[in-house]
Amino acid sequence: MGSVSHKSDAAIVLGIESSCDETAVALVTADRRILAQRIASQEAEHAPYGGVVPEIAARAHAQRLAPMLEAVMDDAGLTLDQVDAIAATAGPGLIGGVMVGLVSGKALAMAADKPLIAVNHLEGHALSPRLADPALEFPYLLLLVSGGHCQILGVEGVGQYRRLATTIDDALGEAFDKTAKILGLGYPGGPAVERLAREGDSKAVPLPRPLKGSKEPHFSFAGLKSAVLRAHESGEHKPADIAASFQQAAIDCLIDRLRLALDQAGTFPALVVAGGVAANQSVRGALEELAQANAMRFVAPPLALCTDNAAMIAWAGCERLAHDADFAGDPLDLKARPRWPLDPEAETVRGAGVKA
Ligand code: KG4
Ligand code: ZN
Repeated sequence: MGSVSHKSDAAIVLGIESSCDETAVALVTADRRILAQRIASQEAEHAPYGGVVPEIAARAHAQRLAPMLEAVMDDAGLTLDQVDAIAATAGPGLIGGVMVGLVSGKALAMAADKPLIAVNHLEGHALSPRLADPALEFPYLLLLVSGGHCQILGVEGVGQYRRLATTIDDALGEAFDKTAKILGLGYPGGPAVERLAREGDSKAVPLPRPLKGSKEPHFSFAGLKSAVLRAHESGEHKPADIAASFQQAAIDCLIDRLRLALDQAGTFPALVVAGGVAANQSVRGALEELAQANAMRFVAPPLALCTDNAAMIAWAGCERLAHDADFAGDPLDLKARPRWPLDPEAETVRGAGVKA
């Protein structure tokens, strides 16, 4: 197994992401420079099915990854010899896609004699705000909201995550996507719902706020999604009003659950949001207000770092190298993991999603 040749503050890490419907490769330095990155979305392939089809995703990753790896090295004008480690998403996610990325990472690590860093995709999201913001220090309270997960985590340090809340059914991104499908807005739904919501009245449609006020630190969005379907089928509401009311109901749930987490876990210096839904401006606005009211800093990464990308995977690799000076790489026989909780001590709740 190769060792890390550069000091960890000058390390260059190649990142590979393939856990859902984005194939992505990036080169990131430990001093927070993104030297090159490419990302190919599979939106067009999955759009006819209204959601991600695992088999199609795996095949598309397999076709795109090798040329993309070459292109990113070219973009940065680097050879593999100049890279210090290879970081690849090893889960959680759609297993076929994860295997494609992980096996490519292993092959590169072996061929170039560099350490492999098997990255938890959720850890990529969780640490991504630190790539964009050097001033963000541990600990922070993280709302991780993506297509497969909706969690509140106390991020205490690299590899130290305390899960304070999770969803008992749908993830929030999934609820956005389903709302978009019901309203005929296509896939992916989050950005489309956000756009339509701008033209609607968020008070027009009475919708539930599942688990609001509950002392159990969980999320639930299945009932909200069903209510959206009923509101749409009633024919009494404009789609823009439904979109705006849905978005507001979802935000009310987020804020209520975050308040509970703060009550239960105590305060943190910063409130941080990550994951695809963190791209939503109304969500960001509401979180910023909550942070201000609690004298916390609010940190949200730039939009391109919110949705799935490889820079966050490479960055998680940089964090691992910096955190553990003796790290010699993960074993090359390590397996891809469809499920991989960030906090292994947290109890399993029914329905918690597999993709991130
Ligand atoms: O983190 P991500 O790119 O992939 C996963 O790991 O799941 O998150 C994708 C999710 C999708 O459900 C998408 O609809 C949602 O993030 N999303 C948004 C917005 N942009 C993406 N949801 C609400 N508003 C947005 N602007
Ligand atoms: Zn993700």
